[in-house]
Amino acid sequence: TSAQIGVTGLAVMGRNLARNFARNGYAVAVHNRTAARTRALVEEFGDEGEFVAAETAEEFVAALERPRRLVVMVKAGEPTDAVIGEFAPLLEPGDMIIDGGNAHFADTRRREAELRERGIHFVGTGISGGEEGALNGPSIMPGGSKESYAALGPMLEKISAKAADGAPCVTHVGPDGAGHFVKMVHNGIEYADMQLIGEAYQLLRDVAGYEPARIAEIFRTWNTGRLDSYLIEITAEVLSHVDAATGRPFVDVVQDRAEQKGTGRWTVQIALDLGVPVSGIAEAVFARSLSGHAALREASRGLAGPAPSPLDETEAAAFADRVEQALYASKIVSYTQGFHEIAAGSEEYGWSIDLGQVAAIWRGGCIIRAAFLDRIRAAYDARPDLPSLLSDETFAREIAAAQDDWRDVLVAATRQGVPTPGFAAALAYYDALRAERLPAALTQGQRDFFGAHTYRRTDREGSFHTLWGGDRSEVTA
Ligand code: 6PG
Repeated sequence: TSAQIGVTGLAVMGRNLARNFARNGYAVAVHNRTAARTRALVEEFGDEGEFVAAETAEEFVAALERPRRLVVMVKAGEPTDAVIGEFAPLLEPGDMIIDGGNAHFADTRRREAELRERGIHFVGTGISGGEEGALNGPSIMPGGSKESYAALGPMLEKISAKAADGAPCVTHVGPDGAGHFVKMVHNGIEYADMQLIGEAYQLLRDVAGYEPARIAEIFRTWNTGRLDSYLIEITAEVLSHVDAATGRPFVDVVQDRAEQKGTGRWTVQIALDLGVPVSGIAEAVFARSLSGHAALREASRGLAGPAPSPLDETEAAAFADRVEQALYASKIVSYTQGFHEIAAGSEEYGWSIDLGQVAAIWRGGCIIRAAFLDRIRAAYDARPDLPSLLSDETFAREIAAAQDDWRDVLVAATRQGVPTPGFAAALAYYDALRAERLPAALTQGQRDFFGAHTYRRTDREGSFHTLWGGDRSEVTA
């Protein structure tokens, strides 16, 4: 038998992806380092479609029709290089290796260049949607060559999630590392969304004085409006869940230390390199790190803070509405920052990424899927050169309508000592962008004072320096 596609690495993501291909009518070769997993897959799910179990790398490669499409679903980093090293010598020019892991885009660029020398297409592909998505339809972000997409695109379109308008949630993002770059920023935005939702929850709990079950109801209501999204939906599920062992809200029995595997951190690291302010995503990453510093938190518990001043029922309900405004406005800012980073990466690496298409393929399947993304798509489709999402008329109008409540929520949070780094960073970004003048002028003055670093004037071209240690006259630098 010859298989149209092969999947190696049959942990849960690989297994589900292989099943997804098979269920869509493709003959799938399956391979795993330990063959027991391969056999288990075929035994358990063999009736879902056509699988070709391969015990060895040679068997696996021989089972694939040409040009070969070989999907690698192993851990990012070393394991991915090891698998490439094992298979590349068995492949021929025109064959494709599709890396569906959460690889760093710089690794993807390196691997793509190395394999291109040998005529092999390396297709770094972001896949989002977790286990469930891999099985029933993920959002797929392939990079790599145009030729590889021509051979692969139709299959990916078939197994991907479909947006509400029926469009498959996959597109050729751009060459080499573009797909993994976009997946990285997806995850950064995912971190920011989760942090903002967390802050909204904490405010509803500590300022409005609501219990988790009540907050779950509020999120359910929000999920019927403009915040409609997968993350809001599962937030309501998590908050309404009751721990069987103790009868307490589940959220109260889980240790409050958030972990991370690294993609959010990469988003911030790369943003620093590109000089793109992604303060909301950065605060989300830092909030996770802070939560993990148990000793530091323990040592800080006695620090002074305001006394709690609970709201009455009417005030609390009004406050909850304001939190929705603050959450929505902050969310617009997060996406503004994330899309800025994609635009900057695209510029830096010459990827020509279509931002409207990125928003379009995030509408379904992925963790940040939301009705909201269709509006981002529309904004970029209407104006592909949009300097920022905030310059889109609709978003600008919505923020204008939300800003009073947004500020009030931050005042309440500050007064009552509830940490809201995500909301605050978002508002600071917004206010900094709209500011007529920034204190950056003073920064330049200071730099010129202590280091003769020079400055530019508002009224004349050129670089200048003031003789701070002398008569303070100005010279042309
Ligand atoms: C997805 C998710 C997925 C992974 C996250 C978790 O898009 O399906 O983003 O890739 O679950 O990266 O990240 P952390 O473990 O860093 O929270």
